Amino acid sequence: IGKSLLTGRQVVVTAGPTREKIDGVRFISNYSSGKMGFALACAAARRGAEVVLVSGPVALPTPDRVERIDVESAEEMEEAVTRFHQSCDLFIGAAAVADYRPETFRAGKIKKNNETMDIRLVRNPDILAGFAAQKTPGQLAVGFALETEGNEAYALEKLQAKQLDMIAFNTYDGKSSGFEVDTNQITLFTADGTRTELPVMEKKEAAKRMLDALEKMLEKK
Ligand code: C5P
Repeated sequence: IGKSLLTGRQVVVTAGPTREKIDGVRFISNYSSGKMGFALACAAARRGAEVVLVSGPVALPTPDRVERIDVESAEEMEEAVTRFHQSCDLFIGAAAVADYRPETFRAGKIKKNNETMDIRLVRNPDILAGFAAQKTPGQLAVGFALETEGNEAYALEKLQAKQLDMIAFNTYDGKSSGFEVDTNQITLFTADGTRTELPVMEKKEAAKRMLDALEKMLEKK
């Protein structure tokens, strides 16, 4: 384990999708694989950080020296994360949290009795914004913005709206960047106005580059 500014610091990472139950056998979710969040957790642990990985349902092994908490829904993820609000030094929201969940849960299996069916959805809590809104000056909040339109302006809006210290703007092309694949193309924006465009690279490498940038920010804290 290498010595770094992250050594001994608590790093909380959310990863993977969330599942929002419709009934006892069905749910709403997305294609997030969890790879980016797991790569970040692994890289932070290798630098000696005390890592808590709060993960939705994914098919990935737990990285060495990482404490993993498995959750299913956004509300469960929020509950798990809240426990570390005070203690964590760095919070990285890499999970693809479902924006909405079914308003009601019906036990058992809904029957197909009609030609159409409506499911009313309600907004989920914003886990990352919830952390950022209460963080102290010594804590860092980092998020991702995955945009199919490739518009950086959305990432900058989120950086401000969620009061983040850094946002990783992530293009989604379905081939070399985004869900399920092993590579990513990200551009890092910081609250103090820097823009760093990284080339397409392995998510593991992208994770290290993000941590390098975050260590520089911790240095200034
Ligand atoms: O607003 P949007 O979903 O694009 O923001 C993405 C960022 O916010 C990601 O870092 C994601 O993990 C986080 N997020 C969250 N809780 C939500 C929605 C997004 O933590 N309900």
